Amino acid sequence: MQELITKAIPTGVHVITVRSRDKINGMAAAWTTQVSFDPAMIAVAIAPARYTHDLIKESGYFCVNTLPVEAEDIARHFGFRTGRKTDKFNGVSYTSALNGSPVLDSACIYLECKVVHAYEIGDHTLFIGSVVDSGELKKDATPLIFRWESFFGKKSK
Ligand SMILES: Cc1cc2nc3c(=O)[nH]c(=O)nc-3n(C[C@H](O)[C@H](O)[C@H](O)COP(=O)(O)O)c2cc1C
Repeated sequence: MQELITKAIPTGVHVITVRSRDKINGMAAAWTTQVSFDPAMIAVAIAPARYTHDLIKESGYFCVNTLPVEAEDIARHFGFRTGRKTDKFNGVSYTSALNGSPVLDSACIYLECKVVHAYEIGDHTLFIGSVVDSGELKKDATPLIFRWESFFGKKSK
């Protein structure tokens, strides 16, 4: 198969957090973007195998934690292990958004969203959320830009 050039599409790096009753989790996500200005709405593409996917389905909420450039280690922490087997929040500082989603102290902004649409798109689910709570934790932060090679090496697609 031809080398995928979609890898070069610039995006940020976020941790999508979620709370469903007594369970919390978070995962790194690059496929996240604003899709409506008024009302403010956010789309996140999440593969059905992710534990975060199950919890978003259960709770109907997710929270985008946008990472600054100095928080690449946080992206790795949340992006290379599943919350099914480990508590990823152990040792990680966070507070809570209006509806209980974790807000990472290391994020520069957070956007808690209520799911208003969910579409199966290829091998991911596209959750569209309406922003119900938001905040800026770090003024004038430089956001971390996703580079495929930085996280997954040269050869993988
Ligand atoms: C930088 C980075 C970006 C990622 N972006 C996405 C994404 O947009 N969608 C997705 O489904 N998985 C993405 N992943 C993979 C998940 O973060 C990873 O599978 C995670 O371990 C899932 O955790 P969970 O099972 O606890 O939900 C990304 C991983 C990294 C490191």
